[in-house]
Amino acid sequence: MADNVPNPLRRRPPDGIVPVNEVTRSEDRWFTIMLAMLGVMMAIIVVTGALQALHPPSNVETIDPTTLHLGGEFAQSNLGTAAEPDGSVTVRMVALQYSFVPICARVPADTPVKFRISSTDVIHGFLLPNTNVNTMVVPGYVAEVRTTFSRPGVYNMPCNEYCGYGHHGMWARVEVVPRNQFPHLSPIERTSCAK
Ligand code: CUA
Repeated sequence: MADNVPNPLRRRPPDGIVPVNEVTRSEDRWFTIMLAMLGVMMAIIVVTGALQALHPPSNVETIDPTTLHLGGEFAQSNLGTAAEPDGSVTVRMVALQYSFVPICARVPADTPVKFRISSTDVIHGFLLPNTNVNTMVVPGYVAEVRTTFSRPGVYNMPCNEYCGYGHHGMWARVEVVPRNQFPHLSPIERTSCAK
């Protein structure tokens, strides 16, 4: 009988109990798998970062949040969608408790779109579901994200960082229109779909 073996570690354990060396082997196996997963994830971050596919949450571009709306890039008259000489568009928005200005951005489909957003008060979030657009909007910094919309449609854009009492009601929209329906803008013109 196994129970007669003098060394207790070599005795056959009762039903349901796994011997020590088998536990150690299994732990080693899982540890190796964990290390391999960690290695793969680190490699993905390094590769996507190096190829510029991965955007950091914010540019390292600073701006004074207290005078943001008074002049310069984020002055009221400069907000909305602007056409660039290379055919792309730039959308400039301001996030504040509890709204985005403009509340609706109009952009053409199949066109590179650059969003530039800044906050006048606290941290807000900018997220377009089913796209690669997801960034924090930190006061004092300009958040920049680039994307291209392949299909026309309306994207609801919730603020996805808790920013106070009105957070749940902080929404904006991005209206993607077919390229030929997008208005031709002169360099100083801005467009939006805010009423
Ligand atoms: Cu703004 Cu939540």
